[in-house]
Amino acid sequence: EQAGTSTTNFKRKPVIIIVVGMAGSGKTTFLHRLVCHTQASNIRGYVMNLDPAVMTLPFSANIDIRDTVKYKEVMKQFNLGPNGGILTSLNLFATKFDEVISVIERRADQLDYVLVDTPGQIEIFTWSASGAIITEAFASTFPTVIAYVVDTPRSSSPVTFMSNMLYACSILYKTRLPVVLAFNKTDVAKHQFALEWMEDFEAFQAAVSSDESYTSTLSQSLCLVLDEFYKNLRTVGVSAVTGAGMEEFFKAIDAIAEEYMENY
Ligand code: GTP
Repeated sequence: EQAGTSTTNFKRKPVIIIVVGMAGSGKTTFLHRLVCHTQASNIRGYVMNLDPAVMTLPFSANIDIRDTVKYKEVMKQFNLGPNGGILTSLNLFATKFDEVISVIERRADQLDYVLVDTPGQIEIFTWSASGAIITEAFASTFPTVIAYVVDTPRSSSPVTFMSNMLYACSILYKTRLPVVLAFNKTDVAKHQFALEWMEDFEAFQAAVSSDESYTSTLSQSLCLVLDEFYKNLRTVGVSAVTGAGMEEFFKAIDAIAEEYMENY
């Protein structure tokens, strides 16, 4: 990476923020908060919903998968269960994703960010061919960042924290895109413990090994893996409910986008 390269020739494109996270981590509430923040701060945002099964959204989406694909009909037509229905809907949508990219390209001059909500079950997006197609289509055209939403109160046990971080790590590995960890629900539990575990390898190892149910050699190796993973990350504490941390979140996104700008 060439640090300090002039970016004056860079024609600003919107930065794509793909919001992912475990079911119930608060993706939709977080996205709603991002939308409110952009509107209140004169930031030009464009909103995309990729969850075909969501009943009601608290924000209005500029592009909504539900306008193109009718999830319930897909379930009936292909005789699928709920997850198969969501996956097939996403596959159908992915076949037209070049049109979505063109729509954004045409508006690129007027946009700062594209905010993307993904299906509730994380693996439908992160472990499917269509998720990969959509992610790659974005990343080959615009600077693209993954915002991984963590349910902070639910991650306070070392073993749960470790599983959640390993999942985030697998997303980094699979998408090869920069990741921002958004520790959500900090109104309920502060994410200080997470920062300490991420900064102090030994403190985390001690916390994990105090859980006797855990295999110690495996957990030691995993701690080492995560220590390496954290070097590639930015972390912010947020609350989708109170709106805390929104400015820090966008700062983290901008810092990443700047690092990657020369690729676009
Ligand atoms: P699915 O897509 O349905 O899996 O969920 P999601 O990840 O989109 O989460 P959603 O936004 O539906 O939020 C899940 C629950 O967490 C809801 O009850 C929210 O009110 C709650 N929640 C989300 N963000 C916060 C937060 O910052 N603080 C608190 N206290 N609750 C939150």
